[in-house]
Amino acid sequence: MSFDVTAVDLSALRELLRRWTDEAARLTQSGTRAPARRNGTTGPDSGEAEGLGPGALTLTFGFGPSLFEQDGDDRFGLADQRPAQLAPIPAIAGDELQPGRSGGDICVQGCAANSQLLFHAFHTLRIAAEGLAVPRWMQTGFLPPFEAMNDAPATPRNLMGFKDGTNNIRGDDQHAMDNHVWIGRSASPHWMRDGTYLVARRIRILLDVWDNLSVAQQEEVVGRHKLTGAPLTGRRESDDVNLGLRRNGAHAIPLDAHIRLASPTTNAGVRLLRRSYNYNDGIDQATSQVDAGLFFISFQRDPQKQFAAIQRRLSVHDAMAKHLSHTGSAVFACPPGVASGRYIGQALMG
Ligand code: HEM
Repeated sequence: MSFDVTAVDLSALRELLRRWTDEAARLTQSGTRAPARRNGTTGPDSGEAEGLGPGALTLTFGFGPSLFEQDGDDRFGLADQRPAQLAPIPAIAGDELQPGRSGGDICVQGCAANSQLLFHAFHTLRIAAEGLAVPRWMQTGFLPPFEAMNDAPATPRNLMGFKDGTNNIRGDDQHAMDNHVWIGRSASPHWMRDGTYLVARRIRILLDVWDNLSVAQQEEVVGRHKLTGAPLTGRRESDDVNLGLRRNGAHAIPLDAHIRLASPTTNAGVRLLRRSYNYNDGIDQATSQVDAGLFFISFQRDPQKQFAAIQRRLSVHDAMAKHLSHTGSAVFACPPGVASGRYIGQALMG
């Protein structure tokens, strides 16, 4: 969920972040919150998560470029704290971005074991923001429930039917996380030390066209086998991708295959952490097609050098590009997790 801040000054912005810190602590620890204070009166929790518990809820907060400066207006006096890496992703070929699904001053990314809990978390944060921030856009997403996946270690499938996340950075690969995801201790500005940058893209999959390809054609587009997730040069999902292998004179993984063009080999070693979700927003009334796809979320040290660099290549050369439409885009700076007794972004707010 992305919010536009309406707080009039820095102290009101601090108040918003203090309120959200309190609510987030309660939501992630107990699942429900103590009676809410609204307009100075005490009222009950909105109630829809009663008895469900925290359900592995996590909430990640990020600050968008417009929080620091909007149309030349340094409304909170934060302009000189904006990291150079935090700028809107420049227009990329094929973008069909909608302003109402893009940008925002502050984002909250929530993950939970079920959608009811997640809705409750956002409902609560929205109420807590009253008078200080208004929602700009909200995107829900889903993955197959962990217990429903019987092949281990299970990689979830996207709505194209392919395993998605095989060659992703693993959270327990400290070396890769330090090199590609975490900003590190010595980075500047100081308030972003140990933080990371989030890039979100709402990518619609044009399923009506995709569904008309044969499985073999789909596999050429991705560069992997649909059922097993194995690269076209291997038999098992975990087999190495061999981009050099040729069969009958042609590349076994086509030159325009998604995994070739997105790979670190093609992108001078650049990688990012993908944490995407499938989405389904019902029927697009204009076309009668299902508006569904991938809510692509990635984490990296530098959105311009990582996400934007890879996406520029994909937008022009990737065989998958003609099956996709990028309708939303946003970038946020996520400061490190909040320590007890402090509030979200305190090092930035001073
Ligand atoms: C709807 C859009 C997309 C779909 C359906 C999709 C699907 C896939 C699939 C099926 C794989 C192979 C399995 C894996 O290794 O995870 C893959 C790999 C990958 N994708 Fe995407 N992808 C999409 C968009 C993107 C975007 C926007 C980026 C980055 C700008 C990206 C970056 C990557 C990377 C880095 C890999 C791993 C390549 C490798 O090293 O093997 N993907 N994607």
